[in-house]
Amino acid sequence: MEFVCLVVALLLSLVFSLVDSQLTTSFYDQSCPQVFSIVRQGVDRAFSREQRLAASLLRLHFHDCFVNGCDASILLDDTSTFTGEKTAGPNLNSARGFDVIDDIKSELENQCPGIVSCADILALAARDSVTVSAGPSWDVLLGRRDSFRASQADANRFIPSPASDVPALVSAFQAVGLSASNMIVLSGAHTIGAARCGTLTPRLYNQSGTGQPDSVGDPDFLASLQRLCPPGGNPGTLSRLDVRSPQAFDNSYYQNLLQGRGVLHSDQILFSGGGSSAQAVQDLSSDENLFFGNFAASMVRLGSIAPLTFPDGEIRTNCRFTNS
Ligand code: HEM
Repeated sequence: MEFVCLVVALLLSLVFSLVDSQLTTSFYDQSCPQVFSIVRQGVDRAFSREQRLAASLLRLHFHDCFVNGCDASILLDDTSTFTGEKTAGPNLNSARGFDVIDDIKSELENQCPGIVSCADILALAARDSVTVSAGPSWDVLLGRRDSFRASQADANRFIPSPASDVPALVSAFQAVGLSASNMIVLSGAHTIGAARCGTLTPRLYNQSGTGQPDSVGDPDFLASLQRLCPPGGNPGTLSRLDVRSPQAFDNSYYQNLLQGRGVLHSDQILFSGGGSSAQAVQDLSSDENLFFGNFAASMVRLGSIAPLTFPDGEIRTNCRFTNS
């Protein structure tokens, strides 16, 4: 009898976890149907304050999902006893938009206390940021929960470096279950936003430790980046990632790559490295609908990386701290 009970309990918990590990677009339909308008209004307010915040919010979701799944670990502040992901190399002085998430969260806590996770806010804000920048829209899967932990070491390990060549980029994406084609299409997020001179300096003056500038891309374009970012200059000076149409979410990022005008090494190498990734860049550069459709589908896959679902994790009250 005891054995039968154990088997039934195991089966029930298996069914339960399978059901609950499914994210769904209708997750808040009963508990907080206004979540969509609250997040959208928060993104709209941020965008009208500073258009670049759309780019920053999109990137936050990416940097969250690549480090042990989409669980809002990136939002946890460091404390005296805890070092999180905000101070990891790829995020320090670079990841931004945290106050926008705080504002959205506090409005949600007013209207639907304890219901909407910070991880879901990040996923919705990423979608709304693309849409408000004139890019595509997609249905966001929901039901993620928030982590109790973050890992600075894993952020340093899993977020790809801008010095990467194509094989390293492909393996960084494969490590989280995404394909080479997801990588090429999601890199198109660099159609909006900016990079700091501090990020570009190794490419411009010491590519791969050689002491030389990068050998991929248009030399005149690299010279213009060198003028923007002189040796010893301000590392916080910004270069737009898409020099053609920096604020519109469009496929001009890929057109830039065809002309050698990719800002990061990891951008330009997608075309200059040749092979199938160059062909994909060419296809995306000439067909914006292809880019938009594939980008939307790839964002859904990005948002589905190892989400925490009930009974794991929690719904944080304040995205910066765990509840206890
Ligand atoms: C393929 C590998 C990728 C690499 C190596 C990479 C690297 C970078 C770097 C170095 C910056 C500039 C950071 C700074 O200077 O402060 C940046 C900015 C940005 N990245 Fe990526 N990224 C990649 C993929 C992605 C993906 C998949 C997304 C989103 C889906 C994304 C969205 C963005 C956005 C929107 C910005 C501008 C952020 C802002 O202006 O605040 N990136 N990325």
